[in-house]
Amino acid sequence: MPRDAGGAGDVLRDLRTATAVEHEQVETTLGLMDPRLDRDRLVDVLGLLHAFWRTAEAGLDAWAAAHPADAAALDWDRRRRTGLYAADLAALGAAPGDRDAGPDLPGVPDTDAALGRLYVMEGSTLGGTFIDRHLAALPGLAGGPRLRAFSPYGADTGAMWAAFRRVTRAHVDGPGDAGRVVAAACGTFAVLAGWCSRAAQGAPA
Ligand code: HEM
Repeated sequence: MPRDAGGAGDVLRDLRTATAVEHEQVETTLGLMDPRLDRDRLVDVLGLLHAFWRTAEAGLDAWAAAHPADAAALDWDRRRRTGLYAADLAALGAAPGDRDAGPDLPGVPDTDAALGRLYVMEGSTLGGTFIDRHLAALPGLAGGPRLRAFSPYGADTGAMWAAFRRVTRAHVDGPGDAGRVVAAACGTFAVLAGWCSRAAQGAPA
C-alpha cells in the first residue's frame, strides 16, 4: 500500500525511506489485507506479533527505567501493546502459544535506540486503522470480537503519532543523533521482517 511522501530533510523522512523495503516485506508476509484471511491465519499472525512486541517492550521498559524523563515525554506507559495482543488472542479463543521466546532483538541502551524501535512499533498503528477496517469486512471474521492491538488508539491515532514525531524531532535537534535513530529503526525492522518470514514458512520460532 503506498505511503504518503514525508516533509523534506528530517529524521522522520529518513526513517520512512530507510525502512520502506522492510515495511513492504512485513506487510506482504503477514498478509493481513488478504481477502482470504481466516481466523487461524489471524491467530498465527497475532501470536507472532505478540511475541515480537513482548520482547521489544522488555527492551523499552529497561530503557524507560534508565531514562524516565524521556519515557514520560513519549508517554511510554500508554504505548505498550503486548497485553492487547494477548487479549485479542484470548478473544479469538487462542493463547499466545509457542513463540513466547520472541525474536533476538538488541537491547535499548539510550533514547536514540528507543526512538528507532518505537518508530517501527508506533508507525504500525497507521496501517492498523486500514487493517481493522479490512478485518471487520471479512466474511470469515464478521461477527467476531472487536480486536484492539492493530489500532490501539482509536480516534487518538493521529495525535499519538504526531506526538511521537514531535518528540523525535526535538530529540535529534538537541542531544540525539539522527543516524543512530535511523540505524535502530532499521535494525528493529530487519528483525521483525525475519521473524515474520520464518513463521510464514512454518519454521519453528
Ligand atoms: C507489524 C507490522 C507493521 C509495521 C511494524 C508497520 C510499520 C509502519 C510504519 C513505521 C509506518 C510509518 C511510516 C511513516 O510515515 O514514516 C507505517 C505506515 C503505514 N503502514 Fe505499516 N506497518 C505494519 C503493517 C502494515 C500493514 C499490514 C499494512 C497494510 C494495510 C500497513 C500499511 C501502512 C500504511 C497505509 C501506512 C501509512 C498510513 C498513513 O500515512 O496514514 N502497515 N507502518
